[in-house]
Amino acid sequence: MSARARFSHGLTALPVTSPLITPGFHHITMVSKDAVRTLAFYGGLLGLPMVKKTVNFDDPGSYHLYFGNEGGAPGTILTFFEWPDSHKGHWGVGGVHHLALGVGDLPGLLKWKRRLIDAGVGVSGPIDRGYFTSLYFQDPDGQVLEITTTGPGYAVDEAPEALGARMIVPPAQRLPGGRDQTAIADSVHAAPVPDITDDMRLEGIHHITGITNVMERMGDFIEEALGLRLVKKTLNQDDGKTRHFFWANYDGHAVAPHSAWTLFDWPKSDYLARPGAGQTHHIAFRAKDRGQQEAWQEHLRAMGVEVTEVLDRNYFESIYFRAPDGMLLEIATDGPGFSVDEPLAQLGRGLQLPDWLEPRRDDIERSLTPL
Ligand SMILES: [Fe+2]
Ligand SMILES: [Fe+2]
Repeated sequence: MSARARFSHGLTALPVTSPLITPGFHHITMVSKDAVRTLAFYGGLLGLPMVKKTVNFDDPGSYHLYFGNEGGAPGTILTFFEWPDSHKGHWGVGGVHHLALGVGDLPGLLKWKRRLIDAGVGVSGPIDRGYFTSLYFQDPDGQVLEITTTGPGYAVDEAPEALGARMIVPPAQRLPGGRDQTAIADSVHAAPVPDITDDMRLEGIHHITGITNVMERMGDFIEEALGLRLVKKTLNQDDGKTRHFFWANYDGHAVAPHSAWTLFDWPKSDYLARPGAGQTHHIAFRAKDRGQQEAWQEHLRAMGVEVTEVLDRNYFESIYFRAPDGMLLEIATDGPGFSVDEPLAQLGRGLQLPDWLEPRRDDIERSLTPL
């Protein structure tokens, strides 16, 4: 019996067989053509604190920017490679369709709609997804973003201790033909929103949604490799036909924040994601420390997954591997964190370089547009 078969148990809500359970996302890394524009959008318009300005360690002539809450808490970190010459990417099989950021409640969400529209960003929503209510828009590179309320959560149509147990068909009013488009268009905060108020605070990664053509294999993989559990089996509410499944860190009672990975099912599709600007480069999940990460590396190898050596990313240590549909994944340690090379109060101010690039600082700074 292969390692794969031994671990497999299909798309059910059975307890996870993996000995390793990630608390959730560590970070998501996307591709930008222009770091100045990206900083204005994420740092300015969305108000996310920049916690690190550094370069791509594998390509030191270009920026790697990190945004995050509380000095860069895992689960809130958005990072960008600046690739000025990149062609435009697009979503598809083996890639990310959109990234959703959490906000407390509907009034905050409606303020975001007003703030984005006033800035010239096209917004659709708010759309009631049942488990949360969402706005959709794009960043300047075309990355699809969502801002979503954190509630009411996945237990609205299943018992909290039995999430993912059955197929949920969304009610007609949540499907395209059943939505009140006039009410959606009219639903917006009445006054301009020049400042980001407390009720608008973005709480990091709420969920990440990808597209796959091998849903069953991905389900096995997500559960076995990462220890996440199926928490919702439903249909894509924008077509009412194709499957949309959700996995998360779930202990049988509650779904942990910053942990929901969801997949749209495009069976037999060969429309593959194209890497490039406006696309997600990879998704990173958390390991608590180096010891746990090495256990993970061993676990993945036992599953027959090709995985890299442990790489030093200065702020965390990383291993990389691919999901069965091609999505590039990482497991990153929680520590040492972003205050390893500059004080917490000054995160993101100066250009930080790892020790091995310091001797090249002058050349590197000359090749970068000042931010
Ligand atoms: Fe979403
Ligand atoms: Fe990463």
